[in-house]
Amino acid sequence: MRISIAADHGGLSLKKDLIDVIQQNGHVLQDLGADEYDHNDDYPDFALAVARDVASEKADRGIVICGSGVGAAIAANKVRGVRAGVCHDTYSARQGVEHDDMNVLCMGARVIGIALATEITVGYLAAEFSGEERHQRRLAKVLAAENADS
Ligand code: RB5
Repeated sequence: MRISIAADHGGLSLKKDLIDVIQQNGHVLQDLGADEYDHNDDYPDFALAVARDVASEKADRGIVICGSGVGAAIAANKVRGVRAGVCHDTYSARQGVEHDDMNVLCMGARVIGIALATEITVGYLAAEFSGEERHQRRLAKVLAAENADS
């Protein structure tokens, strides 16, 4: 898959560690920054860059890392077509894709370390939306709300 990844200063170190993991799993990676540590950089700039890649289908999936994962998810979810979730466990990362068609994974580098982040990332990238009727029905309601409210 084509993966876009980005992180602010809070997630920069974890992003660097995850890049090898993602490439070793056979994915094509687009790194949208940050390229160097800047305490004054802003997570929305990175989350929105990834979200726009996913929404425009330049990427199949996105990954954004900040300090907590929360700001990244809030920002990414402002882009139509993006379904971002904060996942700090492997179950949510897999089920978020299988049931909810999550297409941007957000993690907090101040919350988890590289070992768990690796397992979460590998599970997220291996998962596919199940397409089961009940999940399609629920997703359709989310998409209808997105269209009605924006
Ligand atoms: C940056 O200090 C921090 O606020 C940011 O990375 C993130 O945790 C926001 O949700």
